[in-house]
Amino acid sequence: MTKTPDYPRFAAALEAVARDVERLLAELLSDPLAEGEVSRPARLVEAMCHASLGGGKRLRPFLVVQSAELFAVPRERALMAGAALECVHCYSLVHDDLPAMDNDDMRRGRPTVHKAFDEATAILAGDCLLTFAFDLLSRPQTHSDASVRIALVLALSRAAGLGGMAGGQMFDLAAEGRFAEKLSFDEFEVARLQSMKTGALLHLACIAGALLGAASPDAHAALSQYGRALGQAFQIADDLLDVEGDPALLGKSARKDAPSGKATLVGILGITEARKRLGRLVAEAETALSPFGAKADILRAAAHFVAERHN
Ligand code: IPE
Ligand code: IPE
Ligand code: MG
Ligand code: MG
Ligand code: MG
Repeated sequence: MTKTPDYPRFAAALEAVARDVERLLAELLSDPLAEGEVSRPARLVEAMCHASLGGGKRLRPFLVVQSAELFAVPRERALMAGAALECVHCYSLVHDDLPAMDNDDMRRGRPTVHKAFDEATAILAGDCLLTFAFDLLSRPQTHSDASVRIALVLALSRAAGLGGMAGGQMFDLAAEGRFAEKLSFDEFEVARLQSMKTGALLHLACIAGALLGAASPDAHAALSQYGRALGQAFQIADDLLDVEGDPALLGKSARKDAPSGKATLVGILGITEARKRLGRLVAEAETALSPFGAKADILRAAAHFVAERHN
């Protein structure tokens, strides 16, 4: 029933990355102590494991691995960078679910971290997943060339921080009308906030391979264009799933965006127009990959998957 081209190959590749990232994160988090650390509180490690292991589509690591493959980057390096991005993503989910943010009880089919533990532990687990990401990117296993590692650290800082994911989350709450300063966000402002809260990290996942593989400026630009379109498409699909999706499949709550006053493109444009925009973004993402020819087929399939997914 999916229109994703060559879906079995895509699904197998996604599953393989998910398995490898799961193994790598489990291994990295089970280190008794890294150099320079004093002690690792068991409760915090458990909360980080709850947040980052045993679930999730692992789409960001998948995009890192697939973009890196275009430049013949060794898979272990791409997996390290992918694991770092996944840590930031998991941290963003832990904080997004907090009572002070979206106040959600379920995530990836399990209780959210503040429900399984407590709010303070969830805040600290998020903090530690964020810093752990930079720890991973700084390791020589990620890349032997320190200047490449610094480029990744800088790119992740920009994607995750003030002008990226966290900044986008701030606009997201403002658009809900929580703070008096601005009560209505138009279509363009909502698209911009979504390009920050969700798009920035997905975009980075798509260009990470170019950074790891010292790609040409043209190849970098092509992946960047692909990543921007994919990031926008991803959040529109997430917002559609909130309206139409099955919470049992989603593993998280649904039907919450409209009642809580979230500003979404689905809310502004309506379902039909939002679907059309999603289709245009998938086409745009595919077109951006033309310089890579058939080598990028799996990334083409990923763009379809993002739009058609059920979770
Ligand atoms: C959900 O991301 C949060 C958004 C950025 C919209 P995913 O749908 O990728 O969540 P997991 O990682 O598969 O759980
Ligand atoms: C979350 O957007 C984006 C980030 C976590 C940065 P949502 O709030 O729509 O994500 P879900 O629906 O809770 O997964
Ligand atoms: Mg949110
Ligand atoms: Mg949320
Ligand atoms: Mg959502």
